[in-house]
Amino acid sequence: MIKRPKIAIVGAGGNVGAAVAQWAVTKELGELVLIDLKATAAEGRALDLTQAGAWEGFNSHGFVATDKPEAMAGADVVVMTAGVQRKPGQSREELISINAGIVRDICKNVKQHAPDAVLIVVSNPLDAMVFVAKQVTGFPRERVIGSAGVLDSARFRTYLAMAAGVSVEDVQAIVLGAHTDKDMVPILSTAMIGNVPVAKFLSPEKLAEVVANTKKGGATLTALIGTSAWLAPGSGTCLMVEAIVRNQGRVLPCSVELCGEFGVNNAFVGVPVKLSAKGAEAVFEFELSPQEKEAFAASVAANTELMNIAKTFL
Ligand code: LAC
Repeated sequence: MIKRPKIAIVGAGGNVGAAVAQWAVTKELGELVLIDLKATAAEGRALDLTQAGAWEGFNSHGFVATDKPEAMAGADVVVMTAGVQRKPGQSREELISINAGIVRDICKNVKQHAPDAVLIVVSNPLDAMVFVAKQVTGFPRERVIGSAGVLDSARFRTYLAMAAGVSVEDVQAIVLGAHTDKDMVPILSTAMIGNVPVAKFLSPEKLAEVVANTKKGGATLTALIGTSAWLAPGSGTCLMVEAIVRNQGRVLPCSVELCGEFGVNNAFVGVPVKLSAKGAEAVFEFELSPQEKEAFAASVAANTELMNIAKTFL
């Protein structure tokens, strides 16, 4: 029998999980298994999506929707979106005391039922949850990957495009470091528009504004919507799933354990990685500006603090 990739989405009853499922099914990425603590929430998302297929032209009658963790058995990719979301005015860091336990328990299930999967973590506070996932599963670092840099970079590219009045397609720019408003590091030194440095398009003041908007990108949406965003988070996460199941070798910013890269050990923050069927197959380093180096170091320090809190849940 020809086997399609199996993609389990845990927390699929929530907005981000459902958005990942939506893009995964429209891109025909594989067999989807929607898992949620509330079986009815998973079933509802699956049914809604299945009905969209009537007009969108995809055939999704094969969805599994359940509260049973064993449904992830043999998954090639597990996407973990479970956990509580930010409320307006709340930081991602404040979610740690609830989400660390949720993520820990799901990771025990991943280890048991899907021991060969690439695990993509989306739950917040992101980088600390990647650490929890790595500790609990014991998977090698290439198979425990946080989805945040793709989202933050999408926001950075969007704000650059809006400020410069150009197409976002031609903006190349990444965000590294922690997925927190305070400590993420939008990288201006290598940001380009159509291969031309961004400084040719925007004044230092405008660029500072773009950086500030990027850093508070999630908070802005949470205030506007009343809960945290899901379309751009879901799209970025699905891009990672696609890179893995199609073995594309895309180079995207993702949160992984640093093992000496950028001069850092024992920390989990966003860095450029190569995503293939093996997961985060390689981590790439490049020279940051002195200001970016400083911000990256602060990001790592903040991550260490959060990891120390997360450790108390292990
Ligand atoms: C955000 C949340 C999902 O940045 O972390 O929108």
